[in-house]
Amino acid sequence: MTKNLTVYFSAEGNTAALAKRIADASGSDVFEIRPEIPYTKSDINWKNPLSRCNKEKIGKKDIPIAGSVEGFESYTTVFVGFPIWYYGAPNIINSFMQQYDWTGKRIALFATSGGSDIGKTVGKLRPYVKGDCRIIAAKVFASGEDVSEWVAGIVKD
Ligand SMILES: Cc1cc2nc3c(=O)[nH]c(=O)nc-3n(C[C@H](O)[C@H](O)[C@H](O)COP(=O)(O)O)c2cc1C
Repeated sequence: MTKNLTVYFSAEGNTAALAKRIADASGSDVFEIRPEIPYTKSDINWKNPLSRCNKEKIGKKDIPIAGSVEGFESYTTVFVGFPIWYYGAPNIINSFMQQYDWTGKRIALFATSGGSDIGKTVGKLRPYVKGDCRIIAAKVFASGEDVSEWVAGIVKD
């Protein structure tokens, strides 16, 4: 039996809701990627040049994460979810990816956004992913979009 894992970061709840549907459809265990210091509303106000999210982005900051995935090596397929921030994955996803050895794993990225597509997200994230592994899918889901077909294609591959 192969084991599936769904991990996600969500600042405002959209990706959390999508992650739940993907985890249910794939029979995944779930890990929420939470920053050690939670984001407040003003922290994620990207319209303020001095807000935390803008400082982290510009400073290419590593984001300390609360806890870690138990038994990470036992999973074959890992769904990794996040909101699109600045046309890519948030820095906390870079930090998360860097913490693990991805050798032998199949990675499927999923995201929510305010309208941006997946764009160059995969290429930007790839340098942070250690080990011989494959990113087999990457998709931004519209609000309420069905996940079952996408998940079925990944799980049965
Ligand atoms: C700091 C920040 C940057 C964002 N950058 C983008 C972007 O480049 N393109 C886009 O379509 N939406 C962008 N958004 C909107 C989020 O991707 C969107 O609201 C997402 O669904 C939020 O997910 P969450 O509720 O799981 O946090 C940004 C939001 C924040 C807070």
